[in-house]
Amino acid sequence: MARKSTSAKTGGGKSGGGTSATGGSGGGKSGRGKTERLRKSKGRKESSTRWLKRQLSDPYVAEARDQGLRSRAAFKLIELDDKFHFLKPGGRVVDLGACPGGWSMVAAERVNAQGANKGKQGYIVGMDLEETDSVPGAVLICHDFMADDAPQLLKDALDGPADVVLSDMAAKSTGHAATDHLRVIGLLEAAFDFACEVLAPGGAFVGKAFKGGTEGELLTRIKQRFKTVKHAKPPSSRKESAETYVVAIGFRKDPTQEK
Ligand SMILES: C[S@@+](CC[C@H](N)C(=O)[O-])C[C@H]1O[C@@H](n2cnc3c(N)ncnc32)[C@H](O)[C@@H]1O
Repeated sequence: MARKSTSAKTGGGKSGGGTSATGGSGGGKSGRGKTERLRKSKGRKESSTRWLKRQLSDPYVAEARDQGLRSRAAFKLIELDDKFHFLKPGGRVVDLGACPGGWSMVAAERVNAQGANKGKQGYIVGMDLEETDSVPGAVLICHDFMADDAPQLLKDALDGPADVVLSDMAAKSTGHAATDHLRVIGLLEAAFDFACEVLAPGGAFVGKAFKGGTEGELLTRIKQRFKTVKHAKPPSSRKESAETYVVAIGFRKDPTQEK
């Protein structure tokens, strides 16, 4: 069954199966048409309560649960691929920052990693700092991508070139926007360098960036190696978040190496 994008963004999610709560004074409505109360907890920090309210009132969270997806983030990949079409049956995909496995699940289905459909069978190799529950059709490695041996571990698992390198890596927020931005760009740059090592000609790179997209030198480097480079903020990416994605398609040889 193909995973589908959701109408959740409009608040039009299906009803049923909801848990707990939005609430507070406004008694916010969840996308599932339910208004429930979030019980106060003495021990809970205000920021955690805010997060919990947002989760519980978020139609994408409910829709992910309905579709058996592990994360609301899965919709970002669905929406990006529906627009740019980089996941194809038979595709060999690297998923960096794979936990809890939402993107890997979506990618596994779209590249036919389980061989469930006729045609070519693809596969997924993922990595995350956290242990990720298994995803059929995917090899998921628990390791720091920034560690020196990470690229080799991934290459060994890939055993050949990749068609797509995805990076949804995000370091834990420090609460300091400039620092968080630099850390995301650092991860993006490392993911791009790795993509250049493993991508087959024509391949694609999709990476999490920040508002304003990738800038300066990194963007120039990405443009040198891909035919088309776009920035996209999928509808499921929270409006208040500075997150955006760079989508680079049509990998080509390093022009500085050409004779
Ligand atoms: C937004 S989550 C990814 C969600 C995932 N795309 C999904 O759909 O389930 C970001 C992930 O990046 C991972 N991450 C951050 N820094 C990393 C690093 N240096 N190496 C590997 N994973 C990293 C985090 O552990 C976290 O699980």
